Amino acid sequence: MEIKAHAKLNLTLDVLGKRPDGYHDLRMVMQSIELADTLTLTRNDTGELRVGTNLHFLPNNERNLAAQAALRWWERENTVPCGLDINIEKHIPVCAGMGGGSSDAAAVLRALNQMEDRHLDLDILAEIGALVGSDVPYCVMGGTALAEGRGEVLTPLPPLPKCWVVLCKPEFSISTPALFAKIDSVRLRCRPDAKGAVAALEAGDLAGVARRMYNVFEDALPDRQRNRVADLKNTLIQCGALGASMSGTGPTAFGLFDSEDRAMEAREKLEDFGGEVFLTRTV
Ligand code: C5P
Repeated sequence: MEIKAHAKLNLTLDVLGKRPDGYHDLRMVMQSIELADTLTLTRNDTGELRVGTNLHFLPNNERNLAAQAALRWWERENTVPCGLDINIEKHIPVCAGMGGGSSDAAAVLRALNQMEDRHLDLDILAEIGALVGSDVPYCVMGGTALAEGRGEVLTPLPPLPKCWVVLCKPEFSISTPALFAKIDSVRLRCRPDAKGAVAALEAGDLAGVARRMYNVFEDALPDRQRNRVADLKNTLIQCGALGASMSGTGPTAFGLFDSEDRAMEAREKLEDFGGEVFLTRTV
């Protein structure tokens, strides 16, 4: 079975506080985009779970979230794992704040649900996904949603009006646990207006959403990296983006456009900065 695993963007991301279990309470408006990995799941008769990807540095064992999802699925179903090959063709930048690994895990859950003819509800799949990672439940659902709690408390939102997205993943990567650890001691310059963003979604107001995009993790980045993300955002705005922000714990910067021509121009400009640049659309 072949299945797509779409990347996500955080239109807003706020950290509300640290919890006794070591995680942080979050409030995030999430959006799926067309940029996606392609997963192929094939039963094999070796009894083994094998993972392969086109990127040699990614784990091909149980450290891969896709494999963890399959193991959690079998645990929940109380079945002995059959032999399975999971092949992942990566297109989503890795360690980018775009939920690539989480989305692969979510795709495995959805694929096994069909292959094994189980038809579990999406909220059960999301529950299994929460055992794999905080972003997996959202990736199971996809679309436009408010994610709260650790990221697993989901409220579907009206879809973001269709638009073009230009994004750039600079060549450096960010450690998610390290940035979460740092955010506790950082004085935040401002907080995103998630309520306003939700109201703008309800009104179908793309510019209103874009204007309110903000991610508190930008304040926790080391100076050089923060400046780099700021440069990318400024370039996007200069090219006509309705708004620009960073996704997840970064370092990917993205902008929303209501004009394909302007989006194409922005892609060209960002290509001069290096890194991985994409022009895509919202799902
Ligand atoms: O849930 P996940 O394994 O993706 O989280 C990775 C790390 O990110 C956690 O170990 C934790 O350090 C941090 N995290 C957090 N609060 C969240 C989600 C993640 O502190 N809501």
